[in-house]
Amino acid sequence: MSQQTLNYKTIEPNQVKTWYEACKEEQFPSDGGLCVEFEGLQIAIFNFSRRKKWYATQNLCPHKKQMILSRGMLGSEGEEPKVACPFHKKTFSLESGANLNGHECALATYPIKVEEGVVYVGLG
Ligand code: FES
Repeated sequence: MSQQTLNYKTIEPNQVKTWYEACKEEQFPSDGGLCVEFEGLQIAIFNFSRRKKWYATQNLCPHKKQMILSRGMLGSEGEEPKVACPFHKKTFSLESGANLNGHECALATYPIKVEEGVVYVGLG
C-alpha cells in the first residue's frame, strides 16, 4: 500500500473531531461530486440526489493512484450505492468504501451532513 493511500483513513461518526465546512449545497451537480481539499487530503463529496443522500470518500482511486473519484459515475449495485472510477471503471461502495471488484484496497469514507445549505465533512 502506498504512502499516499495510507494518508486516508475512514472516520466513523463517533470519531469526528472537526466538521469541515466543505461547500455550499447549491454548488453540487445532481447525482455528481466535487473534490475539496483539507490539510493536503483530497476528499470527494457526492450528492446522490436520486437517493436523496450525501457521501464522502477519499478522492484517490486506489487502482492507479489517480485523484479522480469525485468525477466518477454514481450508480447502484443492488441496494449498495456506488461510484465508478472514470479511468478503468472499478467500482466502490459509497457506504463502506469496499472495492466491489474485489482486487484493490477499499476507500476511506467520511461522515457528512448538510445544514442550512452548507455541506460539512466529518474529520478526525
Ligand atoms: S485509476 Fe481508477 S479504476 Fe483505474
